[in-house]
Formats: sequence, C-alpha cells, structure tokens
Amino acid sequence: MTGGAGYIGSHVVRLLLDRGDEVVVVDRLSTGRRERIDGATLLETDLASPTAEDEIHEIVREHGLTGVLHFAALKSAPESVQEPERYYRQNLDSLANLLAGIRDSDVQAFVFSSSAAVYGEVSDEPVGEDAPLAPINPYGQTKLAGEWLVRAATAVAGIPSVSLRYFNVGGAGWPDLGDEQVGNLFSITIERVLRGEPPIIYGDDYATRDGTGVRDYVHVLDVAEAHLAALGALRGGLQHDVYNIGTGTGASVREVIDAVAAASGRLLHPVVSERRPGDPASVVADVSRASRELAWRSRYSLSEMVESAWNARAGAARSGAGERIRPEAEQS
Ligand SMILES: NC(=O)c1ccc[n+]([C@@H]2O[C@H](COP(=O)([O-])OP(=O)(O)OC[C@H]3O[C@@H](n4cnc5c(N)ncnc54)[C@H](O)[C@@H]3O)[C@@H](O)[C@H]2O)c1
Repeated sequence: MTGGAGYIGSHVVRLLLDRGDEVVVVDRLSTGRRERIDGATLLETDLASPTAEDEIHEIVREHGLTGVLHFAALKSAPESVQEPERYYRQNLDSLANLLAGIRDSDVQAFVFSSSAAVYGEVSDEPVGEDAPLAPINPYGQTKLAGEWLVRAATAVAGIPSVSLRYFNVGGAGWPDLGDEQVGNLFSITIERVLRGEPPIIYGDDYATRDGTGVRDYVHVLDVAEAHLAALGALRGGLQHDVYNIGTGTGASVREVIDAVAAASGRLLHPVVSERRPGDPASVVADVSRASRELAWRSRYSLSEMVESAWNARAGAARSGAGERIRPEAEQS
C-alpha cells in the first residue's frame, strides 16, 4: 500500500491488520506518520523519485504482495492551482513508477484513490460515474489522468484494477487516526471553534433545503471498508473500473455546523459571507453502482462523523489507538 501512513490509508492498514493480512506501506512520511501504522512494514521512500520503480519491484517480490492500494498523493485543490508542476510530477510520476514497478509481478488487484474532483462543475442532480469529466483544477486533472494511466497500464499488465472516486471524507475510525490537515469544512470549522472564532457560511441563498451548500460527506471508516469490498470484488471480476464512494444523501453547511455545535457542546453563531465563485449549490454522489457491484454502502451518520472528528482533534485517547467506533445502527 502506498500512502498508508496518511489519513485514509492508515484506516485501511488497521482494517487489514485486524483481519490478519500482512501489510507493507510505502510512504515518504510527508503528511503521514509512522505511529499511525503500528504492525505494518514501512518502506520510507518518495514514489516520485527515479529509484522508486526498482524499489517497488524489489519489495513486491520480497514480500510476495498480491494486492496494491495507491493512496499516496498531494491533495489540496487550491495548492494545486498555485503549483501545477509539483502536483503533476508528484501525483503522476509516483503512479507511473508504481505501475511500472508491479508490471511483472504476482499482483492480482490494484485500487487507485481517485476523487469527485474529476467531475468539475456539476449540476444539482446526484452525480453518477457517467457524468461529464471536466476537472477544474490541476489536482482533479491528475486524478483523471491517473484513472486513465491505471486503466492503460493494468490492462497491458493483466492486473484487475479499479478507481474509487471519494467524495468529502471526514471523521475518524479510531481517536488516534484523525485527519491532521485542515482542508475541508469539518476541519476548518473545528479549528475555528477551538480558536473561539465563529464558523463561516459562504452563501445562504442557494436553492437547497436551508439555503446553504450541500456536499456529500462520507465517514473515513466507510471509505476504508469500500477498499476491502473492492479488493474482494476484483477477485470475482468487476463490470466497471470506476465507482463513486459517498453516502448519496449529502449534508448542508448549516447541518455540519449544527453537528459540530452538538459534538463540542458549544453554542455557535456562524457568520454568513458572500458565495464563493464556482461553488455549486449541491454535490451529492449517486452511489447505486457501488452498492450493486461492490456490495458496499456507507453506514455512519453525519453526527457520528463530526463527533469522531471532534474527539480525534480534541485529543481524546491521544496516548493509544482507543476503541474503533461502530455505527449507531449496530449498537445495542
Ligand atoms: N481526504 C479526502 O477527502 C480525499 C478525497 C478524495 C480523494 N482523496 C485521495 O485519497 C488519497 C489519500 O488521501 P488522504 O486524505 O489520506 O491524504 P494524506 O495526505 O493524509 O495521505 C497521503 C499519504 O501519502 C504520502 N505521500 C504523499 N506523496 C508521496 C510520495 N511521493 N511518495 C510516498 N508517499 C507519499 C504522505 O506522506 C501521506 O502519508 C489521496 O490520493 C487523495 O488525493 C482524498
């Protein structure tokens, strides 16, 4: 697995270790941390470097690896607009080196972390996998080009592969595996609340149920479980090679802020600001393909997502892994 020491990858590492798999992580520990992957073997290297292909070839052979999950990437859309060359180099050179490194190997399954950013500007309808692909920033472009490269390279190598297009990932499956980067509405709102600042709503006059923008937030543990489902499904042969990973419902900015208020036990008074240019009213995934063909669907609610993100950020159980959270529906 690449990027296994990061936010999403470390959740998948823990699920795989829990079920008894051997896990090898390739990570340069730029945003990832070694402490997140206790129990896995770590090869600390930069996948974008010219030596990476040979290193991958060697480690795959040495450990007899049969499945590869590729999480490693730079992931900030605004940063990618400022530094397109770095994003293309890091995200696509890394992927090309990895695919070349596993070409002649026993690998039988390849899973690529793609993103809803491949769709670009969408209409207000649920977004299906066949929606137009028109990414509006270099980050999204590297994900779309990445899907093409995965398709071409795994076809010629004879490796079954799939790209999972995650929507907005949030929450923490264990208190020590929270998202440490401040980039989405969850983390931005939580940081502001911790600093005693009011949350900001960019536009409250959209044609949505409460006037604020609606996005599809999916719990990181649901996303992690989608990878196990995809690995299993690849063995049986899949009808498609791209799948949306979201909840299919969506939450508004105001609903997220209300959930942060509930999790933090604080009264919040959001400030309403101008709409941001290019922000659509609503972006929600159509997840019917994943539910049909991967036998996967999300199980965690918005409040579980926000509460787990808050607890992870507020430092609950910082000293250890703590309990894995369970969906409310499964608790007695
Ligand atoms: N978090 C989200 O909401 C989201 C949404 C859609 C897609 N994704 C994609 O999911 C993947 C994982 O995202 P995340 O949120 O866990 O990010 P993250 O930054 O927490 O994890 C990325 C990991 O990759 C490692 N890494 C980065 N570049 C590397 C390189 N060149 N060589 C070796 N290791 C490298 C980092 O050290 C880190 O451990 C990324 O590909 C991202 O684009 C994330």
